[in-house]
Amino acid sequence: MRKRNPRRYLSTDNNPTSDHGSAEHGGDDELWYDAFDDGVAPVSARMRRRRSDDEPAPRARGRMTEEARARLAKEREDVAIADGPPTGYRWTTWDDAGSRGPEPYPDWLVTDLAAVDTEFGILKTGKEADVFLIERGVPDTEARCLLASKRYRSADHRLFHRDAGYLEGRRARKSREQRAIANRTDFGRNLIAQQWAITEFAALLELWEAGAPVPYPVQHLGTELLMEFVGDEDGTAAPRLAQLRPDPDQLAELWQQLVEAMVLLGRRGYTHGDLSAYNLLVHQGELVLIDLPQLVDLVTNPQGRGFLERDTRRICEWFVDRGLPATVADPVEVVAMVLDEAGVST
Ligand SMILES: Nc1ncnc2c1ncn2[C@@H]1O[C@H](COP(=O)(O)OP(=O)(O)OP(=O)(O)O)[C@@H](O)[C@H]1O
Ligand SMILES: [Mg+2]
Repeated sequence: MRKRNPRRYLSTDNNPTSDHGSAEHGGDDELWYDAFDDGVAPVSARMRRRRSDDEPAPRARGRMTEEARARLAKEREDVAIADGPPTGYRWTTWDDAGSRGPEPYPDWLVTDLAAVDTEFGILKTGKEADVFLIERGVPDTEARCLLASKRYRSADHRLFHRDAGYLEGRRARKSREQRAIANRTDFGRNLIAQQWAITEFAALLELWEAGAPVPYPVQHLGTELLMEFVGDEDGTAAPRLAQLRPDPDQLAELWQQLVEAMVLLGRRGYTHGDLSAYNLLVHQGELVLIDLPQLVDLVTNPQGRGFLERDTRRICEWFVDRGLPATVADPVEVVAMVLDEAGVST
């Protein structure tokens, strides 16, 4: 396999860390390509565990406890952060997916177990997760697709700005897990990271099946969520709405799409929960909702209406700032419409 230029795949304005590690990891990079060329199983560096001699051997046998599983996931993640090369390979994870997206699988998705995932670097570092660009392709064939991999950070690697309010009502299975979450132990923090990945996957799955404009959810694995890459075939990510200066016609068109999406979510009883011009991508004129782990249930969440009002106010302000008449982008009217769809009395 020939060496690729990862930068080819990274958009400039979406890539604050575009030179991440390329120089310092250069040597490792060669090693990885060599290993691959030699026919050694191309297990990704980020999936490979390095064990030092003085580290105790694992004691547990048989089924792994939740705790052991969480610890392993965290160790893998730490290896990724410490040692992960900017460009790496791994066999496709399609086989061992904790969960897969809904069937029928989209035509563009590579589901061949002989596929190899190639990582082209970070698309964007966020407060709670990093988003990577992955190419899944079958060697020696034309079959390939691009995926976005969102990896929730755990332990000290992230800021928990969303956890407090949103997680409170949700029940953890065991009281020990609840205590770990409440006390923010490493174990608890990793569970929270996994929980966010699972929750966002479930949200994407439900909304995708409802026909909402969201990326197709491909898989989730521990703290990682793989989804459809929203962008061009050359790996240029779609811009966020906040980056655009649409002309009046485009603005009206995007507003229309936004209201339709909000109404569709409302009909399922939801509001986004963190809606803003930063969590909307625009690809070839189509609005795509992203960043959905905190999807808010308007019926069961006592603060649901408050979240809906905040979502609506924030996004209306953006549209009005860009020139849409305030009589059109009217938050009161939109909130009433969504609540009506959700069957919640106003
Ligand atoms: N499916 C996707 N296709 C293309 N780009 C994506 C995709 N998902 C996320 N991104 C890019 O990664 C960024 C961060 O994603 P997301 O908002 O889901 O994570 P986050 O951790 O909440 O980030 P932030 O703290 O910046 O909100 C997005 O703004 C977008 O630019
Ligand atoms: Mg976001």
